[in-house]
Amino acid sequence: MMTEIKLCLMFLFSLSFIVSVYMAPAFGDAFHVGTEEKFDFINVVHVGNTKNATVQTGYTIRATIGVGTVWGDDETKLLKITISNPSVKSIPGDAVGSVDDSVNTPFYASWNLGRLQGVYFYPNVGSIPVQSFQKGIAALFQYQLLDGLYEEDDPSGRCKAKYISHSSTRYHKSKSDCYFNANRIERAEYPLRSSLKVSRSADFTVSPEGALQKMVSQDYVKYLLHVHEQLGAYYESVMRLEVEGTVQKIDIHRSSSIQDIVKELNLVSDTLLIDPEISPKCEGSGCLGIIELFKQNKKHLSNDKIGSAQSSSALLELVPVGRKAYLEDLTRILKAKSSVELKGQLMDFLGAVQTISAHKAAKSELKYGSDEELLLAERYLQALAVGSRPQKEIIEDLLEMAREQHTSPKFADTLIQCLASTTQRYAQLEGNSYDTDVVVKVRTFLTTKLKACSEEACMFQYIRGLHNLRCPKTTDLLMKLALEAPRLVSVAAMKALRAFSIYIWNDDFRSKFEEIFFQVSKPYDSSARTLALDILLDLKPDSSELSHLLQVLKSNDKAFEVKQYLLQKLRMSAAKCPAFAADLRRAIESDPAMNNYDVLVPKGLSTALRRPFSTLPSFNASLTSLQEMSGGVLKRGSVDLTLEVADESTSLFTLGLYARGLSAFVSSNEEDSNEAEEDTTAGMELAIQGTVMRPLEFFSGKGELMGHVWSGTASEPTPAYQAITLLQDNEEHFHSHNGAALNLRANGAISIDLNGQVTMSLWGRNAQSKVEQNIGITMAGQLSLDTLFAKLAVRFSAIQEPRLHLTSALDFSGDPALCMQLLQPKNQMKVEFVRTILLAGTKQPVERKTSTTYNLNGLTHALNRKNNEMCNLIAKK
Ligand SMILES: *[C@@H]1O[C@H](CO)[C@@H](O)[C@H](O)[C@H]1NC(C)=O
Ligand SMILES: *[C@@H]1O[C@H](CO)[C@@H](O)[C@H](O)[C@H]1NC(C)=O
Repeated sequence: MMTEIKLCLMFLFSLSFIVSVYMAPAFGDAFHVGTEEKFDFINVVHVGNTKNATVQTGYTIRATIGVGTVWGDDETKLLKITISNPSVKSIPGDAVGSVDDSVNTPFYASWNLGRLQGVYFYPNVGSIPVQSFQKGIAALFQYQLLDGLYEEDDPSGRCKAKYISHSSTRYHKSKSDCYFNANRIERAEYPLRSSLKVSRSADFTVSPEGALQKMVSQDYVKYLLHVHEQLGAYYESVMRLEVEGTVQKIDIHRSSSIQDIVKELNLVSDTLLIDPEISPKCEGSGCLGIIELFKQNKKHLSNDKIGSAQSSSALLELVPVGRKAYLEDLTRILKAKSSVELKGQLMDFLGAVQTISAHKAAKSELKYGSDEELLLAERYLQALAVGSRPQKEIIEDLLEMAREQHTSPKFADTLIQCLASTTQRYAQLEGNSYDTDVVVKVRTFLTTKLKACSEEACMFQYIRGLHNLRCPKTTDLLMKLALEAPRLVSVAAMKALRAFSIYIWNDDFRSKFEEIFFQVSKPYDSSARTLALDILLDLKPDSSELSHLLQVLKSNDKAFEVKQYLLQKLRMSAAKCPAFAADLRRAIESDPAMNNYDVLVPKGLSTALRRPFSTLPSFNASLTSLQEMSGGVLKRGSVDLTLEVADESTSLFTLGLYARGLSAFVSSNEEDSNEAEEDTTAGMELAIQGTVMRPLEFFSGKGELMGHVWSGTASEPTPAYQAITLLQDNEEHFHSHNGAALNLRANGAISIDLNGQVTMSLWGRNAQSKVEQNIGITMAGQLSLDTLFAKLAVRFSAIQEPRLHLTSALDFSGDPALCMQLLQPKNQMKVEFVRTILLAGTKQPVERKTSTTYNLNGLTHALNRKNNEMCNLIAKK
């Protein structure tokens, strides 16, 4: 009998032993009820420049943390946590700040087998920053002793925590995919975004019985602009907790559950997640309101500062504050007498701000009675069109306006382009698509209007609208126009199709583009053909498709400019991509009929070139110049400035030129018979960040051209485009383990002054054109935090003023000769880092600034051999 009982007991004992090992692997000794342990706590926080981390700015917090277990069973404990003697010191230096007394008030945390299930505060004691800090400390007591993947909440968010043991007492925890509300706003274009690199981990040591001895937790964050690998800020926080070794007795609570204690003590329960009030009461620039800030920046916004970095930097200062401004203040600025001279820039500002208040303020200026009024109205609409924070209400209002009749065709056109572009950007926002209600409404409006057009001018306007909307559902309509409409409409439709992402072109579309390029069933305008070719080449033809394209060179097609254009584009692609170059060489060499001088050196002046515009240490950008010529003069030309990051690119600015009927003045070429009876016209088409604007016509009709030629009105440099627009426009928050919430922001702006001059002499049979573009670019960012202990920030910026001169000389006294020159004067880039800290309880922020100036060489872009020959020829005359 006795032995049976003994056996039974032994069995039960070993069973309970196994169970307890399984259930609570070694927490056995952690948090004994009725005892309190003291820990040394230190948190070192610093921020700096990612490129040079030798200089740090930040602060150190020290405190003693008492952790008493006031209630508990085997698995669950109620911890009473008391912070005492907190102090804060700056890095570098020994400036001492003061700490809010309410930090010392104890708070509670419920602990269950290594997990913290909640925290409890006395009501109306600590502010949100105090509680966030306390949550950060409580979270240090959250740890597991079995390797594996856990989900844990702490001030960093809801994270995946992976535990790896190095020994029975030493562990490593790495946290990833922490979810918190980042309130992220970012541009859709990859090169204009910013990135966040994060590493979060902890190393800890426990006693053989599983009680926490030491915890070192670290967060490291790097915030970088995509365009400038070197430009960014980092934040690092290391929290270290180490047991002092003395154990004291502490009073315990006799209640039956934690809930009862919470009720008894009248505590407020909370989670470990933080919910910071992010929008700080005031923002940078000494916390000025929009009116003061505007007064300070006014001098940088004058007309003569357009195209300078002062104006791009001023816009960046104003926009964040402008987004919080009231309608009355914005209106006051706009209506001030002293604003008259800089109203254009104010319209840029309101368009960049993109709030309802800014829209209401700007609407009072949307008039077109005079040329000046029209200019201002268009400035606003064009700025709004490239803004990356479109709002539904504003789109609805634009749609409403677009439905009305406007007596100014220019205003009506610009309004449609603004509506279409804003809607396209709205469709890209997270949670939206081309099926979103308001987007569908705008698409229906544009397509219905287009179908109702009776005149070509009307069609161009709405086709351009579809170009800016870039909705895949309109491609069938555009393709039909490209294939069937009269020549000029077909070209406009092809231009629109060229703007779409190449990923939507399936085999069916590809064969239609081939139909146009090869003129399978009917002749097409040469521009429609070169545009179709652009798309076919963007689609990365394989070797057999490439051989097929090359057949055009051998064919008896008389359009030698199209052949020249093809050859130029192939050479351009080959220069960019070695694999394509190899394919091209193979295709040519394998065909003896192809590989000869007559075929490979067609006559014609069309060119396609790609040249670097900017490289390290600045951003990577290139210029692509495509010039389709006809009868010795330009027919369709574009110079595109593209920002490049890795394999992604985005257009910053495109200067397009078009001319029709001009060749009649220059030569009588057999190729142009179909253009002979055409209207004479020339103009410019600009696209800002991918948004095409209404064309700017230089002249229309032979009479007007002759007028220009004789009177010389076109011979003065005339501003063609002036504006300041936003580039980067990103914002997000980051939650750190110590309860701090980081504010991350990247902003950029570009100020452009483009002016042009054309002179033409029918006597001398020559023409010259000069286009000068002055650009100011500011790309900036900041990382800041505002905690219980300090306000800490690092701001960085890269500022430069690249310029671009494009001249061309055309001589048509004999065989037409065209000489183009593309020049970039040397310039500088200034990179600046500013770190500031203001410790709590002190008055003066400490600011440290470092700046570096890089000299960037000027460039004279070698165009091509043929161009050089012709420049020499023209120079000799
Ligand atoms: C980093 O900054 C420090 C202090 O401004 C300077 O002395 C050092 O040369 C810099 N290092 C690099 C690599 O730029
Ligand atoms: C810029 O181009 C250089 C050289 O091709 C490359 O090493 C660098 O990574 C590029 N920078 C960016 C931001 O893409």
